[in-house]
Parts: sequence; C-alpha cells; structure tokens
Amino acid sequence: MSISDDKLLTELEELKVNSTKTIDKLSKDLKRQNKIMERSDKRQQKEYDELQLKLQEVKDLSAEIEATQREVVFTMGAIGESRSKETGNHVKRVAEYSFLFAHYYGLPKAECQMLKEASPMHDIGKVAIPDAILNKPGRFDEEERKIIETHSQIGYEMLKGSERPLLKAASIVAYEHHEKYAGGGYPQGTKGEDIHIYGRITALADVFDALGSDRVYKSAWNDEKIFKMFKEERGKHFDPKLVDIFFEHLDEFLEVRNSLKDKIK
Ligand SMILES: [Fe+2]
Ligand SMILES: [Fe+2]
Repeated sequence: MSISDDKLLTELEELKVNSTKTIDKLSKDLKRQNKIMERSDKRQQKEYDELQLKLQEVKDLSAEIEATQREVVFTMGAIGESRSKETGNHVKRVAEYSFLFAHYYGLPKAECQMLKEASPMHDIGKVAIPDAILNKPGRFDEEERKIIETHSQIGYEMLKGSERPLLKAASIVAYEHHEKYAGGGYPQGTKGEDIHIYGRITALADVFDALGSDRVYKSAWNDEKIFKMFKEERGKHFDPKLVDIFFEHLDEFLEVRNSLKDKIK
C-alpha cells in the first residue's frame, strides 16, 4: 500500500464517520420534529374539542331560551283566557287548529309552528278588562261590548314592541283575530287578504273552539249548528279558503278536539 493509498483510506474513513454523524443528526432532528408535530396536533385537537364543547353549550343555551320563550308565551295566553274563565285547553286546542289551518293553507313548516305557538296569545289583552265585565252572565250592553273589544288593541300594544319573531306573530294574532273577511270586524275593519293570514286563521280556530264549549253566557253549540254557521259565514266572517280546509280535513280537527277535551271539574 502506498502512502497515497493510505491517505485515501483515512479520508474515506473520515468521510464515513462524518456521514454517519450527519445521518444521526438528521434522524434526531427528524424525531424531534415529529414530536413537535405530535404535540401541536394534540394541542390543536384539544382546542378543537374545547370549541366543540363551547358550541354545544351555546346551542343548549339557545334551545333553552327558545323553550322558555315558548312557555312564557303560552302561559301569557292562558292567563288572558283564564281572565274570561276559559280553560287552559282552549288555548291548546286553538294552537293545534291553527297549526292544521296553516299547514293546509301551505305556509312553510317553521311558520306553522310559530303560529301554533303565537295563537294562544290571541286574548292576552283581556288582562286589562275588568272582571265584572268579562265574567258577566248574559249579553253585554253597548258600553261593555266596546270595552271588551279594546282587548285586541291592548294585546297588540303589549306585544308590538318586541323584535322576537314569535312575539311579533303574537301581536298580529292579538290585533287581527276579530277582523272579518268581508269587513266589519274590529279594531280596524280590514277586509280579505289585507287581514294577515295569522289573524284569519286564529279567528276561525278561536270561533270553532268557542262555539263548541260552554261559556258563562251560552252553552255549547252542537256540530250541526257550528257547521251550518261556518258555511253561512264562508267569505263573510271567515276566509273561504280556510272554511274549505276545515271541511276537507274535518276528521283531523275533530281528532284534536277529542284529544284535548276539557276536564270536568
Ligand atoms: Fe278575542
Ligand atoms: Fe279565545
């Protein structure tokens, strides 16, 4: 072996050692890098999980708020009705009838649901009417009738300031449930489709239920008498489309009435 060969060998050896060191270093670096990535992945996962949890909390909270709103609205409606010695089931039935009418009229599902929740508020304005008038047996005189009729305007005034869609719907219902399709209702005397569909629906739902129940001033009408009156008032008091829906789906309306009967006290 010559000196130059020997030198070459030494250099090769050195190169080998150096390259092993470099590979070692590189692989260590890689491992470190992986660990860092893993850690950051874990941190990201944790942050994501926490975010999901918070999102769920917000969802639960908003569901809770909506449920509370619905309950408050329903209870307010029941208070309005209880002033005039109605049963709690009256507003429940009106709610279900309103849903059926809205559905067959073709309103979107969310709106049907909202009207169902808003319609129990129709008589909320009665909280402001004196008991002596509300619960008077027999007919009202002219003066008393005028006072009773203010309940539509009062209910509207109570609710109209709200930005909540449900309360807005309730304000329309309170305001327009005594309007008549051909005019001559109160408080505005609007006609036809100028009366909001919520008002036209609640009018029919409310009257259907009121006629079929005993009240302080009258006993319940039988179905035959109610149906005859609806046919006569088709296009007069009531929206003709809604009267048609009522007769087309009569079995469903009667089923609601049957399932929500008043409890005999
Ligand atoms: Fe009313
Ligand atoms: Fe009512």
